[in-house]
Amino acid sequence: MAKKGIKRIAVLTGGGDCPGLNAVIRAVAKTAINKYGLEVYGIEDAYLGLIENRIHPLTFDSVSNILTLGGTILGSSNTSNPFAFPMPIGKSTRKRDVSDLCISHLDKQGIDAMICIGGDGTMASAAAFAKKGLTVMGVPKTIDNDVYGTDITFGFNTAVTTATEAIDKIHTTASSHHRVMVIEVMGRYAGWIALHAGAAGGADIILIPEIPYQLDKVAEAVLARSKKGRRFSIICIAEGAKPKGGKMVVFKKEANSPDPIRLGGICHVVADQLAKMTGLSCRGVNLGHLQRGGTPTPFDRNMGTQFGYHALNILMRGVANHMVVWKNGSLGATPISRVAGRIKTVPVNCDLVRAAKAVGTSFGV
Ligand code: F6P
Repeated sequence: MAKKGIKRIAVLTGGGDCPGLNAVIRAVAKTAINKYGLEVYGIEDAYLGLIENRIHPLTFDSVSNILTLGGTILGSSNTSNPFAFPMPIGKSTRKRDVSDLCISHLDKQGIDAMICIGGDGTMASAAAFAKKGLTVMGVPKTIDNDVYGTDITFGFNTAVTTATEAIDKIHTTASSHHRVMVIEVMGRYAGWIALHAGAAGGADIILIPEIPYQLDKVAEAVLARSKKGRRFSIICIAEGAKPKGGKMVVFKKEANSPDPIRLGGICHVVADQLAKMTGLSCRGVNLGHLQRGGTPTPFDRNMGTQFGYHALNILMRGVANHMVVWKNGSLGATPISRVAGRIKTVPVNCDLVRAAKAVGTSFGV
């Protein structure tokens, strides 16, 4: 249960940014001010701003005209976990739990509840704050669509739209140069973006982490197309895809992040391997952070607006320490403790995988 008599709330956006964050901030703040007469504060740069006490009032005007903006007006950070925050000790650095400091910053400002908009890392910290007695409400964001407990996260639709447009564009070079183009999309350990953008872009081969690929099968699929006179192939590969029995390609490690692994670069590895195996001209294209940018699609704006509105409504009805979700076509909520530490991956037998297979798409197996 939420604390009785909530008068002042704070909102933060955590983890990697994504299109639709501003729609949620706007919906949370405007619903709070208009419908419930609350005061709203914004926390800058996610938990980092909470640790550093950068918490400022948001007004109706300051959240106006932001619906169509990508990114987040509050700023974000995916390297500042308040339960393991790097502090300088002499010449070295040690990770310390600074959650009590965060709570004291909220208490001093008289904040009764915190709305945490983020992915699994943000939810894990929110759940830990809830355990310490703070009233929290989660809103699931991420282009990866991998937050457990919700069918959809906002940001995913925009990322899929951007990736699909890129696949459409890359078709012309693939066709003119008779090439195999290996297009890498984000998604961490889940293949949602690759599956949806690959299927929508008519990729000939889709490689996702949930279905470890066999390189000889991928080469076979490409050569089979060549034999039929199809002189180019499009492969859409998730950054987290891996060969059967093999490993993901790690681009770098971000020491202070809740998940330090940063994936990236598999498109070039696979393009080189395929060039050697098939003798065809192959190129890798990594779409990278392009997928997180730009203006949100109408779908993500509306999903963000509904999530923000619902978060406030259930909070004011007395629900606390939940994350709002979209489940079977309607809004709902799930305990945040159920979400923390889990991710939602693509079911390997889902309808879109089966439909893609039926129209001739290979998954490299
Ligand atoms: O979670 C969103 C995401 O864009 C992932 O798809 C990607 O693996 C990761 O964040 C990249 O993180 P960073 O912005 O720290 O490079």
